[in-house]
Order: sequence, then C-alpha cells, then structure tokens
Amino acid sequence: MSNYVVGVAGGSGAPYAKRIVEGLASAGHDVKLVITDAGRRVFGIELDIPLTGDLASDAGTFKDRLEIGAGTGSLELFDPRDVAATIASGSYKCAGMVVVPCSMGTLARIANGISSNLLERAADVSLKERRPLVLVPRETPLSLIHLRNMTAVTEAGALVLPAMPGFYHRPQTAQDLVDMIAGRVLDKLGVASDLLQRWAGERSQETED
Ligand SMILES: Cc1cc2nc3c(=O)[nH]c(=O)nc-3n(C[C@H](O)[C@H](O)[C@H](O)COP(=O)(O)O)c2cc1C
Repeated sequence: MSNYVVGVAGGSGAPYAKRIVEGLASAGHDVKLVITDAGRRVFGIELDIPLTGDLASDAGTFKDRLEIGAGTGSLELFDPRDVAATIASGSYKCAGMVVVPCSMGTLARIANGISSNLLERAADVSLKERRPLVLVPRETPLSLIHLRNMTAVTEAGALVLPAMPGFYHRPQTAQDLVDMIAGRVLDKLGVASDLLQRWAGERSQETED
C-alpha cells in the first residue's frame, strides 16, 4: 500500500476532505494529513469536528469521528509549521497528493511556488517530482486572479478538480454530492473506491427508474 498526502486548506468543503481521508485509509493506504489553521476552523464550522492544532489530540478526534471501516491504512497528522517533516522532501516516497478543500489563497501560493507552510511545500514537491497533485478549489464567482492561478498550476502539472458535483446520477442527499467529488478525486489518485459511479449511458439511467 502507498503513502498519500492530504492537505486541507481553509476553503469550504471539509466534508470532501473527510470522505477522501476515509476512502484512502479504507483502501489500505497511509494518509499523511496536514491542515492549515484556517482549515481547522472550517472543519469545526462545517463538520462540528473540533481540531485544536495539538497533533495528539486531533489524531484522537479523527479516530473517533472518521468512518474508516475495515481499512488498514494509518493516519498521521503533521503540523503545518513543520517544514522539516518527511513530506517536505522530494526523497519521501509518496504516490500522490490532494489539497481538499483548496482555498484560493493556498492555490495562489502553490501556483507561484510560495512554500510558506508544510502543505504548500508538499504541493511544491509534488510538482517538482512530477507526482500526481489534485487541487479541489471551492469559490464562486471566480476572479481573473483565481482563473490565472488555476491556469498556472495546470501548466505546472497539477490537476484542478473543482468541487462541482453533477446531478445526472440523481443525488438524493448532500452526502451523495460529497461522495461524487470524493470518488472523482480518489479515481484521479488511482485509488479504488465504491464512491465513484461511472456514467453508463442514458439507457441505464432509465432502467433504474
Ligand atoms: C467558513 C469559512 C468558509 C470559507 N470558504 C472559503 C472558500 O470556499 N474558498 C476560499 O478560497 N476561501 C474560503 N474561506 C477563507 C479562507 O479560509 C481564508 O482565505 C484563509 O486565509 C485561507 O487560508 P489557508 O489558505 O492557509 O488555508 C472561508 C473561511 C471560512 C471561515
């Protein structure tokens, strides 16, 4: 099984991050999690999961609140200020990284190589090592600056996968919408999950009714 880095910045969309961490660990992968200060605040606001920034206590909170199922993957939390952590180095063996949600601030810093914390450094490393880097921004409307930064990271090799769920699978709940994005991200990281419903054509949709 592989190591995956999950960065959580302060955009709206903590439920996507939770589901992706659960999906990676449930598939037996080891998750290296780094959350910015703003990301912790949004986790508390959106999921009522209180994160203090104390790694030991936050690890316990995640253990209590995450649904990992029968998965054997581990979860390791990193301090965003710890730029000497393993995941800050290109020599660290890692199969890919996702930043979910990716705030426009973090996106801008990644697009410009400004590694001001461990999350941004790990993303910078992913780009320089030519490893998969998936960014999941959530903002609307988008300014020209946002659009230019998305172009820049795409040119540098990242995949911009906005949190824009579709409705053609007829989602019934908000969790269905979350799972649609989480499934797409896991698929892009090459991780098998049962969250992704592949479109099988209009006919198959009709026969489901
Ligand atoms: C509840 C809440 C929701 C937010 N939603 C977004 C968002 O969807 N997109 C965004 O770019 N910033 C959003 N922000 C603002 C970012 O958190 C803020 O710009 C922060 O400085 C980002 O820091 P970071 O990039 O270090 O995580 C939100 C903030 C809060 C408190």
